Amino acid sequence: MKYVVILAMFGAAAFAADEPKKALTKKEVGKMMKDVHKGAKSPHVNVDAELKKDEPDWDVIAKGAKSFNEMSAAFARVDLGYSSPAKYNAAAKALTKAAGDKDKKAATEAVAAMNKSCSSCHSYGGAGGALK
Ligand code: HEC
Repeated sequence: MKYVVILAMFGAAAFAADEPKKALTKKEVGKMMKDVHKGAKSPHVNVDAELKKDEPDWDVIAKGAKSFNEMSAAFARVDLGYSSPAKYNAAAKALTKAAGDKDKKAATEAVAAMNKSCSSCHSYGGAGGALK
């Protein structure tokens, strides 16, 4: 299991291999956040929709999990001040595993945990902007 997580992290790093690993600005992270979590066609909305079905399309959920893990990789490249991505990152990894296992209960719990993690950054004077 640990190896899968490590491989997933390297996968995300390889994806950005063309760029030097420069720091990201909050603005750049905000744009990624919008792409991943906001809007009718976002991975977040797609994953929510699949998990409401009796027979979810696990490819869609695995793709969503990949986007969330890429988001985790971006968090490592931005100065978030006091905010911590730990809960979000853990939820993204849990969703990757659940998608691999095609485990709907675990996937639903991972998404619920991810939704709870937003407040780690989006409250108490952390990241601004509307969440949805
Ligand atoms: C690790 C910190 C962190 C976590 C966790 C996090 N965000 Fe963000 N989010 C940010 C930062 C940083 C920005 C950029 C804010 C800025 O522009 O100053 C942002 C911006 C956004 C934006 C764009 C806001 C706008 O109007 O421009 C949306 C939408 C968003 N986040 C949704 C979410 C959702 C939904 C979750 C939970 C699933 C979440 N975020 C979890 C740090 C985080």
